[in-house]
Order: sequence, then structure tokens, then C-alpha cells
Amino acid sequence: MERLVIQGQQRVAGELTVQGSKNLTLPILCACLLIPEPVVLTHCPRISDVEETLEMLRKLGVYVQQEGHTILCDASQASPSGLSREMTQGNRMSILMLGAMVSRFGYGRIAYPGGCRIGKRPVDLHEMVLESFGTELEDADDGLEGTRKQKNGCRISLPFPSVGATENALLCACLSEGESEIVGAAREPEITGLCRFLNGAGAQIRGLGTSRLQIGGVKRLHGTGYEIEADRIVAGTYLTAAAVTGGECQLWGVRPQQLSSYLDFLARLGCGLHLQEQGVRLTAPLRLTSRLRVKTEPYPGFPTDLQPMAVGALSVAEGEAELEESIFERRFDAAEEMRRFGARVQIAPPCISVRGVRRLHGADVTGRDLRGTAALLITALAAEGETRLEGERYLKRGYEDMLRDLAQLGCGEIRKEAKEWQSYG
Ligand code: UD1
Repeated sequence: MERLVIQGQQRVAGELTVQGSKNLTLPILCACLLIPEPVVLTHCPRISDVEETLEMLRKLGVYVQQEGHTILCDASQASPSGLSREMTQGNRMSILMLGAMVSRFGYGRIAYPGGCRIGKRPVDLHEMVLESFGTELEDADDGLEGTRKQKNGCRISLPFPSVGATENALLCACLSEGESEIVGAAREPEITGLCRFLNGAGAQIRGLGTSRLQIGGVKRLHGTGYEIEADRIVAGTYLTAAAVTGGECQLWGVRPQQLSSYLDFLARLGCGLHLQEQGVRLTAPLRLTSRLRVKTEPYPGFPTDLQPMAVGALSVAEGEAELEESIFERRFDAAEEMRRFGARVQIAPPCISVRGVRRLHGADVTGRDLRGTAALLITALAAEGETRLEGERYLKRGYEDMLRDLAQLGCGEIRKEAKEWQSYG
């Protein structure tokens, strides 16, 4: 087992082009199953979540070719097949694969999805979507089996704007007969990206970027190409690294309006921001200041995926702040672990209060999910002394190569170390 050894008091200074978005690439890969012709995707991130999703596609008979950041998928010979627990435990995509399978073949079977343990993460809204589109669901060994009994479109009203459930509804609606409508849809940029991709393949989706999506069903989708947009969460991670280290950075490829609530947060901490059409430049003050209250919310609100990074920034800011986590009821692991750095963090779910200290100190810390581990890594850059961080495998789910990126941003003193097994007695 490996862990990362991070030298503290490094300062971010540099520029970087941000990798493609994980949360856009994954649903688009699932959508490829609907298209019986070749699709070419460019600027795809090289991360383990993508690898695992490609494995699922291969299992379903999709021809997949990956070269650098380009992926070719040809689902012309695809057929429905069961996705086992080994294939589905890494991320949330199997539930979208089920939607895509019943939509294209009328039948599909999956083991329940895995993903980060940051809350209960039920699939009831997905089930409601699939059933509304005429699919009969049955329990099947540790998962779900779906058979589509009728192909009509429908009107569906989501009680909460779930990203995944909205994506599933889109996958079901495109090839349905007649009109469909999704009311209360999630408005995340990744939803808009998925709609653009599907429209490029011949789908008829209107209302992009709004909470009311209208879809005219088509008989067949056709081959297309799509360039994946930059990952706004990765961008937010590196901007926070600059903020906590009193640094400066220029990120390219990002659309600032997709990150506006987080940029607003960084500005309120005292960071200088220069927004470009496809880029952001951040200059941190000598010391961040915090006297604020933020709450994670569906887009365009403060993104839950950047909550752990925000806790890291607030830990070294002057003043006291309160953060409310309203999306995932168990997303507090990283905040808790920050205490080992000397952060003054109090957790009373759903709230985290943070009183900033002048200096954190290096420590042995453990990441337990993707974004939490990234947050611990960037916070360690600001601490005094050395940090040993376990949980690198989580980083690989969403970041192509954080060590490479941070080195390019001027923080090269991070190395991997083999962890020796301790023997007792
Ligand atoms: C997506 C993102 C994830 C992000 C999250 C919220 C991907 C691959 N992942 O996850 O990075 O943190 O949006 O912005 O795009 N819920 C239910 N029942 C359901 C589905 C969801 O109760 O059937 C609840 C969840 O438990 C959670 C909330 O709705 O409390 C938000 O979940 P959702 O928007 O669906 O997130 P994901 O699509 O899983």
C-alpha cells in the first residue's frame, strides 16, 4: 500500500489547463449505449471511474478504443447483459446503464451502484424515473432487473433535482414515443452537456439549462463527436490550493460562470479573481479572512463536492465560519480529519463550524472518499511540516494526476512512499 508524503508550506504559483470533467464524461459514456453508430469523445479524463465505465460498456458488447484523451465507442453490436457487483461497486454509473439498457433493448440487469460513502445514496428517484417510463423493476441478486413494458414518453416531476435521476430520465426519454417532460430537473452544467451531446446525436431536447426539460422522442440516434468541457470541481480544487497557500494560479479551459458560487466564496475570503471567457486567475491575500455562512445546494448553489476544500480554506482563515451540508448527510469525514492538522473544526450535522488558526501542522491523515482526500492533500500544502496521507486510490477516481498538476503549479515536493505493514505482538 502506498501513501503520499507532502512537504508543508509550499506555495502554488503557475498555470494549468484543467482536465475534462468526470461528471460529464461518465453519463455521456452511458448515453453511448443508446447510439448504434460510432461516437468520438475528446478531452476525456484518464481516471479510474472512466476506466470502470468503459469496462461496463465492453461487457455490454460496445467496441471501445481509447487513445490518450480520445475515446471511440461503437455500440452497434451491443446487447443487454448483467453487470455484476465487481463491475458496479466503484461508482454510480450502473444505475444509468440500467436506464440506457431498458431504453435501447427493453431489458437490463445491474448490481446496485457503489461510489463514495458520503451518505445513504438511495436510488428511489431513479426507480421512480424508470417506472414512469414504463419499466417494471424487480429485485435481482443485490441489484435490479428492469423490463420495459411500454415505450411511451411521460411527464415526470422530480421532488428533488437529483443529477443522476435527471440524467436517467433523459436517457429514457430520447428514444421514447412522443413527448416527455422533466419538471424539477437538475440544472448542473453536466446535465446541459449531456443534453448537448444527445442533441448532437439527433435527440430533440429543449429547455437546456432550465429545470423544465422537454424531449421529443426519436426512433434512432446517430453517430456524433463531442469535446468534454473542463472539470469545474478539479478547477475549484486547484483554486483552493492557491488560496490556502497564499499563492496565485491561472487555470485555463474553465468557464467561470459554472463555478460562480464557489468563486464568490473565494472572493469573500479575500482572494483576487480575474475571470476570462475560458479561464480564471486567482491571487490569494497573505491571510484569508472568514466571517461567513455557506450552505451546499443544487446548482447554481455552492457545490457539495467542494465542501471539503472549503473547510480546508476556512481552517487557515482569520475568523469563524459556518458551513451547512444539505446534499449528502454523511459528508463530514474530511472535515473531521482536518483536526489532525490542528484545525478547529466542530461538527454538528448538518453543520460544520470552523474557527481559523494562523498555522496548521503536518500530520498522518486518511482520506476516505474522492473529494475528501483531495481536500486533505491541498490543505497539507499549507501546513507546517510533513503530512502522510493515505487514500491515494480515491484520488485516481477523479483526478488524472494530482502530483503532476501540483508540480506544474509549483508544488513539487510530494512523493509516494510504500507503507509498511505494522505487526503487533
Ligand atoms: C452527482 C455527482 C456528484 C455530486 C452530486 C451532487 C456524478 C457522477 N456525481 O451525484 O459528484 O456530488 O451529483 O451535486 O455526476 N438522492 C435520493 N434518491 C435518488 C438519487 C439521489 O434520495 O434516487 C439524493 C442523494 O442521496 C443526495 C441527493 O439526492 O442526498 C443528491 O444526489 P444526486 O444529485 O442524485 O447526486 P449523484 O447524481 O449521485
